[in-house]
Amino acid sequence: MSARLSRVLHRSLRETPPKAIGGEGVWLIAEDGRRVLDASGGAAVSCLGHQHPRVLGAMAKQASKLAYAHTAFFSSEPAEALADRLVGDEPGGLAYAYFVSGGSEAIEASIKLARQYFVERGEAQRRHFIARRQSYHGNTLGALAAGGNAWRREPYAPLLSSAFSHVTPAFAYHEKRDSESESDFVARLAAELEAEFQRLGPDTVAAFIAEPVVGATAGCVPAPEGYFRAVREICDRHGALLILDEVMCGMGRTGPTHAWQQEGIAPDIQAIAKGLGGGYQPIGAMLASGSIIDTIRQGSGAFQHGHTYLAHPLACAAALEVQRVIDDERLLDNVKELGRYLERRLTEHFGNHRHVGDIRGRGLFQAIELVADRATREPFDPALKLHQKIKAAAFAGGLACYPAGGTVDGRSGDHVLLAPPYISTRDDIDMIVERLGDAVDQALQSINH
Ligand SMILES: Cc1ncc(COP(=O)(O)O)c(C=O)c1O
Repeated sequence: MSARLSRVLHRSLRETPPKAIGGEGVWLIAEDGRRVLDASGGAAVSCLGHQHPRVLGAMAKQASKLAYAHTAFFSSEPAEALADRLVGDEPGGLAYAYFVSGGSEAIEASIKLARQYFVERGEAQRRHFIARRQSYHGNTLGALAAGGNAWRREPYAPLLSSAFSHVTPAFAYHEKRDSESESDFVARLAAELEAEFQRLGPDTVAAFIAEPVVGATAGCVPAPEGYFRAVREICDRHGALLILDEVMCGMGRTGPTHAWQQEGIAPDIQAIAKGLGGGYQPIGAMLASGSIIDTIRQGSGAFQHGHTYLAHPLACAAALEVQRVIDDERLLDNVKELGRYLERRLTEHFGNHRHVGDIRGRGLFQAIELVADRATREPFDPALKLHQKIKAAAFAGGLACYPAGGTVDGRSGDHVLLAPPYISTRDDIDMIVERLGDAVDQALQSINH
């Protein structure tokens, strides 16, 4: 082993990333003292930026009282308070919270709860889950099976359950035909979903799973107007559940607390994570409707699932304070206002760029998609690894953003996702757009474009 490689299995097995040793608001500080502007909060995680004093204080206070107690024996004050805060007023009928350690666990719990609910209702034949291509629901095997990203699934395909099937995503830039209006497109997607229910047998479908605004795999893709109402109607008509994955787009990232609040519908089960704890602790949650939990309460009386670190008191205390700060400082107003500003600045900078085909997103969750040809929307050759080059150029220029490839079909396409902290200012946004512009141009130059 080379002396320079660490014993930690990093994402790349060929190089060790620099150590981060500090943080300050929207800035991350590397061991060599370099300050990097955190324009994506990692992967849309750090909604309050770094080292927020109130969150650190709440964590220290909880740690000094009790760091951990197993949920087989105890509840905890922070878990009870966090659940009250999230679902005390039963948004959209979601009345209970199940706290886990991250997004994949929240999705696994959501899938299992849906299945157990139907078993206990005497509908054990409901064993199919319909999801969408170009989605990401996590990397554990159940969540990976639900996800529709071809590249992530490929090596593990033989291990992925055939209970999951996939339909076309509501991704207008690539999937809507030029001859279609937006409502034609929605009608076609709804017809396809209906056909998938029919193919599987409508009374065998447990749930439809979707991200309201698709995150990492497609780059901040909101659905066209009316899509989620159509999906909700199909699920209701067939007695299936709607599971929304708001791990990335939820908890204020797109403006309202829940992205589904912009769609005129509510889910039966929802997964949240990243912005819940803002990265201060690993935490995710499954939110479930009162009627699902009542069914199981009157049946077996227990959700047949669990992990060692369920409702971890320190994680719940951190998330509770993150959510209090968001409310007290009225940060969702900033997400909405600054989100419009970010969109405007991206449009000013990239709107006429010959290799930026689309600028999209909601709130502080925006992306640009790179194309070889704007007229045909043809992507760059994936072998050029344009997104990796943009990431490297941005990082060298003091900007951490979240570029990814496979935007179109899991293999080709490049986009850059931005998810700045909710505490960002207009100056931060200006700097993000400027540094990103430089990085995109440098990366394109390096591949002779
Ligand atoms: C929409 C979505 N669902 C699930 C996950 C999985 O979350 P985690 O990485 O915390 O397991 C992610 C992570 O990026 C995500 O973006």
